[in-house]
Amino acid sequence: MYYSSLLCLAVLVTTAAAAAAPPHSQCLDNPPDLTSGGGEYAAGVVVHDLAGFDAYVTGEVHSSRAVLLASDVFGFEAPLLRKIADKVGESGYYVVVPDLFHGQPYTGDLNFTEWLTAHSPVKAAEDAKPIFAALRKEGKSVVGVGGYCWGGKFAVEVAKTNKVEAIVISHPALVTADDVKEVKWPIEILAAQNDTATPPRIVYQFVHALRQRTDHIDYFAKIFQGVAHGFACRYNASNPFEVKRAEQALAFMLDWFHKHLK
Ligand SMILES: *[C@@H]1O[C@H](CO)[C@@H](O)[C@H](O)[C@H]1NC(C)=O
Ligand SMILES: *[C@@H]1O[C@H](CO)[C@@H](O)[C@H](O)[C@H]1NC(C)=O
Ligand SMILES: *[C@@H]1O[C@H](CO)[C@@H](O)[C@H](O)[C@H]1NC(C)=O
Repeated sequence: MYYSSLLCLAVLVTTAAAAAAPPHSQCLDNPPDLTSGGGEYAAGVVVHDLAGFDAYVTGEVHSSRAVLLASDVFGFEAPLLRKIADKVGESGYYVVVPDLFHGQPYTGDLNFTEWLTAHSPVKAAEDAKPIFAALRKEGKSVVGVGGYCWGGKFAVEVAKTNKVEAIVISHPALVTADDVKEVKWPIEILAAQNDTATPPRIVYQFVHALRQRTDHIDYFAKIFQGVAHGFACRYNASNPFEVKRAEQALAFMLDWFHKHLK
């Protein structure tokens, strides 16, 4: 279902436009298998000097178009995230997946509330400014951010500044309608039907907020049926349906970047 032009659906929302749901365990479902070290797919390399960050780097080094992928709480080593990064790179972009947690992604033995307090996506977006400066310095004239879960909030924070030209948020967490009102750049929202972190009713709030804006920015929202939070980057690679949904999400993200990063 497409909601970019269906105001009526937004009006159905009866819940208060309060803050998004607190971090829910769906953000922690299906953790990636990090034991393979990301090597199974990786076409790129890990660098240690991207403006003070480690980063997985792939794609067209000389492209003037860059995409930064912001990971979920499990960090930049997730093999499926690297696979996505490689695919974005194959489409002509220079792609960076920085370690926004500086070696401290969430792991199951940690207290999530405490981890999240120590790894605020708002602060991370502030701290990542040198990365965007470095990309500009390297001649990247247009930059997009694709954020997943935690990275969705990161992407929205960055899109409140002039650091990027477009963002895509897949099954975001912690994003509010008020955040969406402040986004300055084209935003695509790829949500899941069964998502308790950002359920469809919250996505309708985003759409409503975007539609109400007088300074119309381009936006698009889609709710993928039959999948849950995490579907775009933590799917079951042995399950054809889940693989198909994740590939669809990737295709939508690429279309958005092709349209807005020129
Ligand atoms: C929704 O997702 C949860 C896991 O996050 C799962 O336990 C549940 O079965 C899913 N429900 C549907 C209808 O897909
Ligand atoms: C996690 O940390 C918070 C804040 O310190 C605390 O209130 C909560 O009880 C902790 N949860 C668990 C399961 O230990
Ligand atoms: C992944 O999908 C396959 C095929 O549907 C299934 O057999 C397997 O149990 C799934 N794995 C997990 C961890 O859900």
